[in-house]
Amino acid sequence: MMDVPGITIVEMPHGAAAWREAVKLRERILRAPLGLEFSPEELAAESGDLHLGAFEAVTGAVIGCLVLSPVEGKPGACRMRQVAVTESRREEGIGAALVMRAEVFAAARGFREMTLHARESVAGFYERLGYAAEGSPFVEVTIPHRAMRKTLEAPTESG
Ligand SMILES: CC(C)(COP(=O)(O)OP(=O)(O)OC[C@H]1O[C@@H](n2cnc3c(N)ncnc32)[C@H](O)[C@@H]1OP(=O)(O)O)[C@@H](O)C(=O)NCCC(=O)NCCS
Repeated sequence: MMDVPGITIVEMPHGAAAWREAVKLRERILRAPLGLEFSPEELAAESGDLHLGAFEAVTGAVIGCLVLSPVEGKPGACRMRQVAVTESRREEGIGAALVMRAEVFAAARGFREMTLHARESVAGFYERLGYAAEGSPFVEVTIPHRAMRKTLEAPTESG
């Protein structure tokens, strides 16, 4: 697994201070530019999800995050969403490290497939990480998206 020096990737409990910081990051990067914000109901509904944060070791700041949710009605399938890295720390491998760590977390919890809705402008990021697009583009939160998926390897004895 690729690690980024000075960055720690850990799970954030729903409702904890780090999770709230990550929500602000998600709101700023993924929602505000579209004129959208999270409703309290939407955030409360995330209590069963897995939240991963990338922390700057020196400052403790949350500079990247993502959310993993089980796909309802499809056992073994997990959905990755809300992937965001703060503007000043992009192209350093932090997004890729988050996605790879999420795959390890999901595989360890028995998931065998990762699915996601990629913004079309970001599909290349996921392709580099082994995700394949399927179906036609569709519009979600006002912008074009592609459905993508990747089969997850079962964890090894040592992993
Ligand atoms: C997409 C995002 C999470 C990538 O994070 P990042 O930390 O900059 O990504 P990395 O540095 O780990 O990039 C890994 C590789 O993907 C490439 N990459 C990054 N963004 C890309 C993009 N939009 N399209 C194609 N390739 C991209 C990088 O150049 C790098 O390539 P390399 O392996 O050849 O060096 C970040 O740009 C972001 O937060 N964007 C805005 C929010 C967003 O669109 N989220 C995704 C919603 S589906």
